[in-house]
Amino acid sequence: MNVLLVNGSPHEKGCTYTALSEVAQTLNEEGIGTEIFWIGTKPLAGCISCKTCAKIGRCAFPDRVNEFLDIAKDADGFVFGSPVHYGSAGGAVTSFMDRVFYTDRCSGRQSFYLKPAAGVISARRAGTTATFDQLNKYFTLSEMPVISSRYWNMVHGATPEDVEKDLEGLQTMRILARNMAWFLKCKEAGIKAGVPFPAREETIYTNFIRE
Ligand SMILES: Cc1cc2nc3c(=O)[nH]c(=O)nc-3n(C[C@H](O)[C@H](O)[C@H](O)COP(=O)(O)O)c2cc1C
Repeated sequence: MNVLLVNGSPHEKGCTYTALSEVAQTLNEEGIGTEIFWIGTKPLAGCISCKTCAKIGRCAFPDRVNEFLDIAKDADGFVFGSPVHYGSAGGAVTSFMDRVFYTDRCSGRQSFYLKPAAGVISARRAGTTATFDQLNKYFTLSEMPVISSRYWNMVHGATPEDVEKDLEGLQTMRILARNMAWFLKCKEAGIKAGVPFPAREETIYTNFIRE
C-alpha cells in the first residue's frame, strides 16, 4: 500500500515538508509506502472551466496537475499539505487542488473514490483551522474518508527548525499517520473478506432550480 503526500508549499524542504515527513516516516514504520510530491514553484493557473478535462481526461494545462493525476490512480491514500497564506491555503496549492479534483471528477477517473485523505497545515501563527476546513472540502466532495488525529492537523513555525520544536504538532502528525495506516489495513482486510463497495447512484444536478 502506498500513500501520496502533496507538499503544497513553495518551499521544497520547508515547514509543510517537515510535517509531511513526520507523517511519511510513521506510515513507513507501519509498513505503508510513501511518496512526497512537491507542487514546485512554477506558476499554476487556476481552473478556467474550459471542460477540456471532460473531453480528453487530462487538464488542458500541461503541468504538475497532470503529472500528479498520472500517479494518483495507483495511490491508496492521500495527504495534502499547505502553508497558510493570508489565513487560507496557498494560492498555488489551491489552483492545483481545484484542477486535480475537477479533472478527476469530469474525466471519471475516480482516483480518489473511498481512498482515505487528510489535510496537513503549516503556519507561523494563525489561519490554520480555516485552511484545514478548506482542504477537507475537497475530500468530502469526493467520497474520501477523512482521517483525523488527536488535534486538528497543524504545525507551527516559520522555519523547519521551529516545526521540530512543535512537539504537539509532530505528535499530531504521527497519530494521524497511524490512524491512516490502520484504516488502510482495515479496508484491505474488508475487501479481502468480500465486503462489497457501496451501491452507487447516478449524479443528479439540480442547480437549485425547481420547476
Ligand atoms: C504570502 C504569505 C502569507 C502568509 N500568511 C500567513 C498567515 O496568514 N498566517 C500565518 O500564521 N502565517 C502566514 N505565513 C507564514 C507561513 O504560513 C509559515 O511560515 C509556514 O509555516 C511556511 O511553510 P512552508 O515553509 O512549508 O512554506 C505566510 C507566508 C507567506 C509567504
